[in-house]
Amino acid sequence: MVRAKKYVVKRHFQGVPKREDFDVVEHDLPAIKNGEILVKTEWISVDPYQRAYNSRYPTPYDQFGFQLAVVQDSKNPRFPVGSKVVSHKGWRDYTVIDPNAAPTPIDKVYKLPDLKGLSESLSVGAVGMPGATAYFGLLELCKPKPGETVVVTGAAGAVGSIVGQIAKLKGCKVIGFAGSDEKVSWLEKNLGFDNAFNYKTVDAVSALKQAAPKGIDCYFDNVGGELSSIIINQMNLYGRVAVCGSISGYNEDPDKIPKATMIQPALVAKQLKIEGFLVARWHDRWAEAFADLARWISSGQIKVEEHVTEGFDKVFDAFVGMLNGENQGKAVVKV
Ligand SMILES: NC(=O)c1ccc[n+]([C@@H]2O[C@H](COP(=O)([O-])OP(=O)(O)OC[C@H]3O[C@@H](n4cnc5c(N)ncnc54)[C@H](OP(=O)(O)O)[C@@H]3O)[C@@H](O)[C@H]2O)c1
Repeated sequence: MVRAKKYVVKRHFQGVPKREDFDVVEHDLPAIKNGEILVKTEWISVDPYQRAYNSRYPTPYDQFGFQLAVVQDSKNPRFPVGSKVVSHKGWRDYTVIDPNAAPTPIDKVYKLPDLKGLSESLSVGAVGMPGATAYFGLLELCKPKPGETVVVTGAAGAVGSIVGQIAKLKGCKVIGFAGSDEKVSWLEKNLGFDNAFNYKTVDAVSALKQAAPKGIDCYFDNVGGELSSIIINQMNLYGRVAVCGSISGYNEDPDKIPKATMIQPALVAKQLKIEGFLVARWHDRWAEAFADLARWISSGQIKVEEHVTEGFDKVFDAFVGMLNGENQGKAVVKV
């Protein structure tokens, strides 16, 4: 019998999540049945939606999220002992999984993609859900054309850093906003962004007028709020906005969402197309994104960085650190 640990959210977060909002629960796992596998977690992902979705679930609930694990015992020929699986089983160290039971696309268990020798942690990052988010959100909704100007917020994070680099590969001028001078320098010097700005210190209106004198064609929105209104108000005719997230409001009371300058005049005058999305929309095509992303990363065309926290006991710290912007690139936990 295996004794396992998991993070349970015992009460709804108010503001920044607190350690006391979680219990780490020890429990015995049942013996596996036909079709099931027993896995040991190797990498855990901490992500903004784990904060944003919190109020949707009645407490207590097991903290969901992507993780990479190795199969330790198997009664499922598709996942033999020693193989690696990506699942949405969340913050657990050992898990019994029935790969045939997936109530939603996100719950589907899949084999570790071909990472071409890159770190397996990328399976929960640049070659995982966040990578697919960048890939499909940008290419399917923004549809950037060579020579166009693309702006991305949350630019130094898991999704944003990939968005900007794919846009560069597509021949665009890329402008990013991130929350520290160090991140800004990394985006410009290491990732090849044409311009990056610290949204905490810069006057975004004049920074954009200077960096994008011909206006903005595509905006990949990770943060929402006033910064997004400023960007959308400087867009060109037939510009496209992919709304991926609104992290600037995730720690706010859902009944008191922050207000921002209205964007409707720009939407009308510039005939903009603005579309929100969930990456699960393209779940049956994630493998397509993973193949391109693994190829671009292994060839050096896309650079990845990870903010690694060590230890199952540190998952909460990694989560809050990510919400506070401690991560440059993808925040992951090595179990
Ligand atoms: N639609 C989908 O299917 C989908 C899928 C994945 C992710 N997302 C969304 O994509 C966005 C980025 O996610 P990610 O996984 O790539 O996370 P991430 O960017 O790696 O990490 C979160 C980052 O958010 C920034 N941040 C925190 N508070 C902020 C604020 N008040 N204003 C602006 N930025 C703030 C921090 O960086 P700074 O130092 O720059 O502040 C932090 O590093 C999130 O909105 C997330 O919900 C959506």
